Amino acid sequence: MLMLAFQLSAQQKTEVTIRTDKGEYRINKHIYGHFSEHLGRGIYGGLWVGENSTIPNVNGVRKDIIDALKHIHIPNLRWPGGCFADEYHWMDGIGPRSERPKMVNTHWGGVVEDNSFGTHEFLNLCEALETEPYICGNLGSGTVEEMSKWVEYITFGGESPMANLRKKNGREKPWKVSLWGVGNENWGCGGNMTPETYAENYRRYATFCRNYGDNKLYKIAGGPNVDDYRWMDVMMRNIPHFLMNGVSVHNYTFTRAWEDKGNATGFSEDDYFSLLQHGLRMDEIVTKHAEVMDKYDPAKRIGMIVDEWGAWYNVEPGTNPGFLYQQNTLRDAILAGTILNIFHKHADRVQVANIAQLVNVLQALFLTEGDKMLLTPTYHVFDMYKVHQDATMLPVEFTSPTYSRLGKSIPSLSVSASRDKNGAVHVSFVNIDPTQAVEISSNLTDVKGKLTSAGIITAPKTDSYNTFENPNQVVLKEYKNGSFKNGILKIRIPEKSVVTVEIK
Ligand code: AHR
Repeated sequence: MLMLAFQLSAQQKTEVTIRTDKGEYRINKHIYGHFSEHLGRGIYGGLWVGENSTIPNVNGVRKDIIDALKHIHIPNLRWPGGCFADEYHWMDGIGPRSERPKMVNTHWGGVVEDNSFGTHEFLNLCEALETEPYICGNLGSGTVEEMSKWVEYITFGGESPMANLRKKNGREKPWKVSLWGVGNENWGCGGNMTPETYAENYRRYATFCRNYGDNKLYKIAGGPNVDDYRWMDVMMRNIPHFLMNGVSVHNYTFTRAWEDKGNATGFSEDDYFSLLQHGLRMDEIVTKHAEVMDKYDPAKRIGMIVDEWGAWYNVEPGTNPGFLYQQNTLRDAILAGTILNIFHKHADRVQVANIAQLVNVLQALFLTEGDKMLLTPTYHVFDMYKVHQDATMLPVEFTSPTYSRLGKSIPSLSVSASRDKNGAVHVSFVNIDPTQAVEISSNLTDVKGKLTSAGIITAPKTDSYNTFENPNQVVLKEYKNGSFKNGILKIRIPEKSVVTVEIK
């Protein structure tokens, strides 16, 4: 037995070379973006409680969440959908709240949407968060005129019907908005179009989304679902590049398949393996879409915008199936760290990403219940990884140990490194293996300095999670198990953990 233990641990030694000589691309801070749709308790209750609520709020939005989002330096927030975007008519969400028309949210539970959270509420929230808004316009059921007027209403500073209406509604100065989506999932909920039809429509809509004054829109085409490389090909070929700054890609992670999503908690080790195996597919999907984009845009002027990603499970028992409410475990933190490392690796092409979704929906950073709020394990990854925002990606070279199950093997170690503007190097490790630690020896030869800090996210079980009664089961903790001498980082990465170190 002792011998076996020795052999197992001997296998889990890995050398990692960090190419500090090869930093070429910036990790765009916008890959740390978030997404809030009018879906379930994502907006109402989750963010918006109204100015008269007893829950502490800033202009109607929960203060606990605003403070926690500022702490992780949220770079952008996507809104109002999702599928909801293509049935949203923005004019219903401006003016006195008592006079705003109500509508049915047909995608998400058929509930009544009273439009009390609209354009002003969203943009004021972005200002409070000091984050960039990312608005997704309605191409599916809207008109060119409606989208064009929305841009004018928000961003035009002079005298015009829309700018005057905005002023009448209490906002004198225009807001700044750059990230602008021209429809969402137009191959499905956004109109069930062919890529050719969507591309034609995109050309018309995008033409009339104008740049007013010094506000420059970064226009994003509704892109492919998962591995639909033909859709990407048509976008890149049929849309003139001067009309498009980015193409979106959506890729969710399920335990096995869309039809068999699995549960958020109480899962078996087979399910743990399956989910992470599926999550790792993000690398293949981004790589192959990037190959298509390279064909038409070798200069990499057009960004890949992964504006919906994350784990999607069966809803929690007893909750509305249309509300997509799920718990969030250590497994989700491991998935988030792995996928963010993949985005870093593709820093040359992936310019924006938005995990779905922010509060109470899918792989959320926050869960709320009345006045109670908790931070999920996924939140702690965004906290730990914020050091990579806008830093220079340093390529890494290593041979990963493997984790085998169900007759298959996946790499169990994911590593990513970056150098920030002050010269500090941060290295993030994810060890997917639920039972074996990895001893890392990492070469950063020309880096002088000390191991100044390290943080870890781990927990007793892969499905450990935070509850309102016990909110600190899975948190970010200080980690003291490493050394840095003569350019060599030696560190033990425990089983099922996410670790980030700082050397400066
Ligand atoms: O995030 C939930 C839904 O997933 C979004 O509304 C849609 O764009 C996607 O299918």
